[in-house]
Amino acid sequence: MKELNGNGAIITGAASGIGLGIARVLARAGVNIALVDVQEAALESARKEIAALGVRAIAVPLDVSDRNAVKTAAARIDRELGKVHLVFNNAGVELGGTAIEDVEDREWDWIIGVNVYGVINGIRHFLPLVRKHGEGGHVVNTASVAGFWVNPQFRLGPYAMTKYAVVALSEALHQDLSGSNIGVSILAPAAVNTRIHASGNNRPARFGGAYQRAGAEGLQAALRSGLAPDEVGERVVRAIRDNELYVFTHDAPKTWFSERFERILAAFGRIGSRD
Ligand code: NAI
Repeated sequence: MKELNGNGAIITGAASGIGLGIARVLARAGVNIALVDVQEAALESARKEIAALGVRAIAVPLDVSDRNAVKTAAARIDRELGKVHLVFNNAGVELGGTAIEDVEDREWDWIIGVNVYGVINGIRHFLPLVRKHGEGGHVVNTASVAGFWVNPQFRLGPYAMTKYAVVALSEALHQDLSGSNIGVSILAPAAVNTRIHASGNNRPARFGGAYQRAGAEGLQAALRSGLAPDEVGERVVRAIRDNELYVFTHDAPKTWFSERFERILAAFGRIGSRD
């Protein structure tokens, strides 16, 4: 998509952080936006901020892991926003600082619900709104560098597992949509200065409600020196205009990924002589 002025966008996780950064950049480019989030008060103040930039902005309070609620919200957005060209499946939560075997059942349900089913629900119910008008568009799924590599420092295994799933879903969607006028991008930032370390504050009641898990302090300190969310917004809007599949924001992960891929490739040298 080269021309964004007058387009419509759905952004999940738009009440704060990267989602709000994307909303600001899109609003300045003249895009009307449906802002989706579980945090109702923060969502309303984000809506006011975005509307003040001169575009149509609607607030859609929603838990993206709830497939029926996503379906209902898609119908409302269709009625109230007008044509949707851009879908950002961006809402996500972090869970780490723990050994895999110590993650509790409802913590798995929560992180898989939001980070994986949230993206699936967006593909199932928001993407048809882009297909509907035939003018083309773009889907951005927010993964992470953790979608390609498990950071050993912060024990982010459960989080990384969900982000690997987002990468695979997005690569498959990209294959499905090749040759169409709908592009796909995988946004894979490293540290961005947001409140993702405090995700437990927004855990929906059906997953056990708000809680704090010890172990997020180191991550919080690392994020504080991260990129500003608006810089990530600028980066992803450039990626949409240039139809990029993999969208990185930092150089350092290149070394981390190549070490991992080298280990994987080296494993082929140990197969033996069965071929
Ligand atoms: P954030 O916590 O500031 O924003 C996430 C937003 O998602 C919040 O407004 C939150 O209320 C919302 N949300 C949480 N659960 C939800 C649910 N069930 N339904 C709807 N909305 C929900 O964090 P940030 O960093 O802006 O996160 C956005 C995305 O970026 C996430 O997918 C995260 O995994 C990803 N990411 C963040 C990085 C970082 O360093 N901050 C790095 C790589 C990826």
